[in-house]
Amino acid sequence: MDKIGNLIYAGKAKDVYEYEDNNKVVVKFRDDISAGDGEKKDSLVKKGYYNSLISSKLFEVLEESSIKTQYLKLLKPQYILSKKLKMIPLEVISRNLAAGSLLRNFPFQEKQKLEPPIIQMDYKNDKYHDPMLNDDIIIALKISTKEELNEIRAITKKINHLLSKFLDEKEIILVDFKLEFGKDQDGNIVLGDEISPDTCRYWDKETLDTLDKDIFRKGQGNVMNAYEKVFNRVVDEDDLKKWNID
Ligand code: TMP
Repeated sequence: MDKIGNLIYAGKAKDVYEYEDNNKVVVKFRDDISAGDGEKKDSLVKKGYYNSLISSKLFEVLEESSIKTQYLKLLKPQYILSKKLKMIPLEVISRNLAAGSLLRNFPFQEKQKLEPPIIQMDYKNDKYHDPMLNDDIIIALKISTKEELNEIRAITKKINHLLSKFLDEKEIILVDFKLEFGKDQDGNIVLGDEISPDTCRYWDKETLDTLDKDIFRKGQGNVMNAYEKVFNRVVDEDDLKKWNID
């Protein structure tokens, strides 16, 4: 087992640890789940297992199409070796169908197709409760430059295209998702964080059943059954063999 060092940062569902190589970190996916600005919390057996493997697979899919990501390899379930990034405090949300806060905040119809997809940027800041930003605010706060925002939008569009296609083949509709980006040592913009049922809306293509954290947010039943379904559709036997998982 590779060397995992001291805890650098503990988030709501993941921990980040130092690694023997100072340019890398180990991200641990915990079993914790939270919603509503951290107000609703629980711990669900196997959640860290499923999310770490689903996220690994989706990052590998993106890497195969030349998207630069933080992902290096799955060390073992729940533990991903990642490039160290300086994170940009933006939650970049991409939406294909109207759901969630878009319906609470604006007069969209539920399930309305958004053509072209909407890209929204929220400020990742607990103190200010993650408010929606616009380009002028982002630039004035010196979070990113205009050029960096253009690049982040272009990468997000490409990711939406790649993931929508991959998941469609697995009978899953990618309704919306949230990305986080950071900068590597050379100043390149790199995709970080995770892509999992915690950070996306997935609907079953046939039944339109929810297969993501909305089940927990709304208290609508067994969340892990949904995560297990996504896992079974997204991760195959060859992936498990490659990762040395029985
Ligand atoms: P929203 O409709 O609640 O704004 O969420 C849009 C998408 O972003 C949805 O797929 C869930 C994801 N998301 C996160 O991953 N973290 C967050 O803190 C929020 C608010 C949303």
